[in-house]
Amino acid sequence: MTHPNPVPKTWSGRFSVPVADAVMEYTASVSFDQRLALHDIRGSLAHARMLSEIGILSAEDFVAIEQGLGEIADEIRQERFVWHLHDEDVHLNIEKRLTERIGDAGKRLHTGRSRNDQVATDIRLYLRDAIDDSRRQLRALQAAMLTLAEKHVETVMPGFTHLQVAQPVSFAHHLMAYVEMLSRDYQRLADCRRRVNRLPLGAAALAGTSYPLKRERVAQLLAFEGLCDNSLDAVSDRDFAIEFCAAAALVMTHLSRLSEELILWMSPRFNFVRIGDAFCTGSSIMPQKRNPDVPELVRGKTGRVTGHLVALLTLMKGQPLAYNKDNQEDKEPLFDTVDTLSRTLRLYTDMMGDITVNADAMRRAALEGFATATDLADYLVKKGIPFRDAHEIVARAVRHAEEQGCDLADLSLEVLQSFSSRIEGDIHAVLTLEGSMASRDIPGGTAPARIRAAIAAKRQDMACDD
Ligand code: ARG
Repeated sequence: MTHPNPVPKTWSGRFSVPVADAVMEYTASVSFDQRLALHDIRGSLAHARMLSEIGILSAEDFVAIEQGLGEIADEIRQERFVWHLHDEDVHLNIEKRLTERIGDAGKRLHTGRSRNDQVATDIRLYLRDAIDDSRRQLRALQAAMLTLAEKHVETVMPGFTHLQVAQPVSFAHHLMAYVEMLSRDYQRLADCRRRVNRLPLGAAALAGTSYPLKRERVAQLLAFEGLCDNSLDAVSDRDFAIEFCAAAALVMTHLSRLSEELILWMSPRFNFVRIGDAFCTGSSIMPQKRNPDVPELVRGKTGRVTGHLVALLTLMKGQPLAYNKDNQEDKEPLFDTVDTLSRTLRLYTDMMGDITVNADAMRRAALEGFATATDLADYLVKKGIPFRDAHEIVARAVRHAEEQGCDLADLSLEVLQSFSSRIEGDIHAVLTLEGSMASRDIPGGTAPARIRAAIAAKRQDMACDD
């Protein structure tokens, strides 16, 4: 980037020039909105083509603009383009360069357009691509989770409520819960995309334009699904970016929860999983440490993305119609959300492929907390005892087992029968972890057959993506 103000003001004295520079630096956005450059060019090309089709631009001017913008795009891609702070933003930098290259035709490009509808168009084009990337990345992460789940349909772990052992579940079932969350995230992004994918151009500064622009044609050239129907709304609202950040914050929140679990499971107290060395770091002082840095950072970065969502909501809430410069502040939170989400999804996908499960530790933990107590109660209900009474009987049996320092399944038939005469020889099959899991044979339940069906259905779903 070149120096902000190469031409000092003559009246500046010792005071005004630095202030003017500071104002320019404060108000310029080119340091960050240059990321929109290729989308800006794409939007300009469509606008120019339409202008030439309706006779507002001559054929020669259009050819010059098309060629000039093509060359500028190359300069940008090859990082040869010199950005100038005194040209404020990405739009003016490109337009100025175009005029430098092709002369007056460059100055005609902005006919019937304002930077207000231009920037709104750029962000939408950019975000549409970002949404498509995020959705692909979500699918890759889900695929990695399904691969891990497939190996662990029969792996028993304690399911928790209140972080207390509750009932045995399959580790695959647990993973599939996250696959479901990510499916909703995937759909949410598709839904958000429909509202992102509308054309602001034609709104001009705020009121529309007196040129007979063919907005539908520009929308078609840019593959937008429709037009923004009100010019004031088109240039001023950023709800589509807010929606995206909300969807991104939810993805991050889901991954933050899984990260929290991975962190717990990796602690020697649990020892349920091991995450590959590539995703952990050591301590500079304690040689024995292996810290789950990646999950911890995902948990941490979730706060950052949620912060961006709140920043955009706050940015919007006090603005009168239509465009205000406040909106320039939409970009950094949005870009950082896109980057953080993308980096997180990529690492998470790799990490899922590098998780080793300690099935023995999971199983031992599942055996510790009377995880099959509900199964005993359900057994009694099936033998004709009302559920509330069964609950009471089991509570007494659990207390007894606790005093003995053993699990319910370790109590002999005679002892179990002392709590209820309805208990018979078939009880022990019910009290095993496998028996308990297999009995949850209901849609959405943890029975292995159901999980296999759920995995197959998800794979099917993912194969016929839109
Ligand atoms: N850099 C500006 C932004 O990001 C572009 C629009 C400027 N419009 C204006 N009237 N100053 O919002």
